[in-house]
Amino acid sequence: MTASIIDGKAFAENIRGAVTRDVASLKNKHDIQPGLAVVIVGDDPASQVYVRNKVKQTAEVGMNGFHFHMDDTVSEAELIAKVTELNNDPAVNGILVQLPLPDHINEAAVIETIAPAKDVDGFHVVNSGLLATGGGGMVPCTPLGCLLMLQDKHGDLSGLKAVVVGRSNIVGKPMAQLLLDANCTVTIAHSRTKDLANEVAAADIVIAAVGRPEMIKGDWIKKGATVIDVGINRIPAPEKGEGKTRLVGDVAYAEASRVAGAITPVPGGVGPMTIACLLKNTVTATCKQNQIDPETLG
Ligand code: GUN
Repeated sequence: MTASIIDGKAFAENIRGAVTRDVASLKNKHDIQPGLAVVIVGDDPASQVYVRNKVKQTAEVGMNGFHFHMDDTVSEAELIAKVTELNNDPAVNGILVQLPLPDHINEAAVIETIAPAKDVDGFHVVNSGLLATGGGGMVPCTPLGCLLMLQDKHGDLSGLKAVVVGRSNIVGKPMAQLLLDANCTVTIAHSRTKDLANEVAAADIVIAAVGRPEMIKGDWIKKGATVIDVGINRIPAPEKGEGKTRLVGDVAYAEASRVAGAITPVPGGVGPMTIACLLKNTVTATCKQNQIDPETLG
């Protein structure tokens, strides 16, 4: 068996198309232009690439983008003051503070400052609480992207066995919650799970979000399972030349794609979906803040 490849790039393009139409409709019907503010602290190269892409795509779908770069010596109080200013700015519908933050800043304190209605990352305790108790809040972008791809592949997910490998607040925990809401039987595994291979082998759906290069092996995977690889790991690639590197996921892709029914590649799988879902969340937040039913945008 050779797995079908789930094309996250194409899927994300479709979402951005729908967001572009919604943004145009918000302007034409309601005279509203959604605005997304992105705050980055310091010069972490990976974060900078990520934020550049967010800013570029925000403009491409017709939203207002506000980009704030703060020096890594900024104090927690100064960052919190910036977030408070954005909370009070009516032109800003969504706020994202790029993580990780420098060690001297308490991430939770900053996230809890973001107004829950503008928390397009879905990281605020109000939003994670809503997700855990039946929904209605903002849903974290990466798990939302994974769920949309799974629903596209399977339709109804009811009764399927899912294993989420990884327990972060950003991916693992909200992903498990979304799968549970979709009526899957969910196991949350992690780097200390005993006999991880057996947990993975029992699953119809594998979500790999553990942050360890190619940790999940092909012979762990149940024949025909759907594999969603959230990992983005840069590893040395001496075969490409001295000092060269390449990106791999948390799944040993070549092996897994011979067993799985469907699989996301790295890059080009989950990655592009995260920003597309961020833009989608910004439209959702804008609609909620203005009491507009998104279904009426069309
Ligand atoms: N850093 C890595 N992923 C994310 C994300 O989804 N949101 C934010 N704010 N920071 C991140």
